[in-house]
Amino acid sequence: MQFDRRRFMSTLIAAPILASPAAALLSGVARAAETGALLTRPLRDVELPIIGIGTARRYADPADAAALTPLRDTIRRFAEMGGQVIDTAPSYGRAEDVVGQLVEELGVRDRLFLATKVGANTREEGAAQIEDSFRKLRTDRIDLIAVHNLRDVDNQLAILRDLRAEGRIGALGITTSFSPQYEDFEAVMRREQLDCIQIDYALDNRGAAERILPLAQEQGIAVMINLPFGRDRLFDATADLPLPDWAREIGATSWAQVFLKYTVSHPARPIAIPGMAQVRYVEDNLGAAQGVLPDAAMRQRMEQFIDAL
Ligand SMILES: NC(=O)c1ccc[n+]([C@@H]2O[C@H](COP(=O)([O-])OP(=O)(O)OC[C@H]3O[C@@H](n4cnc5c(N)ncnc54)[C@H](OP(=O)(O)O)[C@@H]3O)[C@@H](O)[C@H]2O)c1
Repeated sequence: MQFDRRRFMSTLIAAPILASPAAALLSGVARAAETGALLTRPLRDVELPIIGIGTARRYADPADAAALTPLRDTIRRFAEMGGQVIDTAPSYGRAEDVVGQLVEELGVRDRLFLATKVGANTREEGAAQIEDSFRKLRTDRIDLIAVHNLRDVDNQLAILRDLRAEGRIGALGITTSFSPQYEDFEAVMRREQLDCIQIDYALDNRGAAERILPLAQEQGIAVMINLPFGRDRLFDATADLPLPDWAREIGATSWAQVFLKYTVSHPARPIAIPGMAQVRYVEDNLGAAQGVLPDAAMRQRMEQFIDAL
């Protein structure tokens, strides 16, 4: 997605109070200004809807052309509803290729924010892998590239800084989804100038909130959340349970919306990227980017609920 100042300003006008922590403090909740508007968060010079698509696993290995149909429908519906962020990686099988093909077929490249990763051991390997990502994603600009799980982080960030200076990528960052990496992750956040971090965080997996998310908030680094459901973990934990009454107070009509609204209401103001390969997931999960978000008291209540299961 190229930076479009007019579109950016109109988003700011339409959506700003929505996700502002100050507004949340004043009202107890953040409220969407217009029905259907997606809450947004800044990432460097763009405002992005707070729910994106993760493509690990379900986009990795479509067996044949028929297997592409639900994925195409998913991306089509996502773009129609105003979704923008799609997260992928060279290590997710054929996912970059699949996303590139479907986005091109649908003609929606300019409406999307494409994020991928680099996971390589040397500068040469990293540079070659990134060129492959441009080719597979069928784009001359990638909106964000992050160093996957801190692999060869110093060399890879050096490449990404050059690409950002050339305007070939819009933003750079680092990712992890393993708590044993958190200490090193934090050290990189302190010594580098990052646009974005991506980390695992969920209602029942709150380690990132101890130091990493507060540090991101302090340093003004944008945050993406991977594993917002812990894959099946949260759904399994709540499988036989009706939605609690308090779900209505945050406008959640499904467990998925409860879990997503929890992650994106952290004060670091993250964007969550749940894995989505079905239209019904898009419609459900983008519901979490609308209406009200939990305030601090509600977040505590949600934590107590899940901890008691
Ligand atoms: N280190 C890293 O950089 C790293 C690590 C892990 C993940 N990631 C990124 O984060 C993304 C998210 O992680 P993830 O996909 O592994 O796990 P996740 O988002 O926690 O869970 C995704 C799974 O939840 C189910 N789901 C999604 N929406 C649902 C809904 N509305 N109702 C019921 N079930 C729903 C789907 O299961 P079914 O498809 O089985 O129905 C989906 O595969 C990845 O796709 C990837 O882009 C990055």
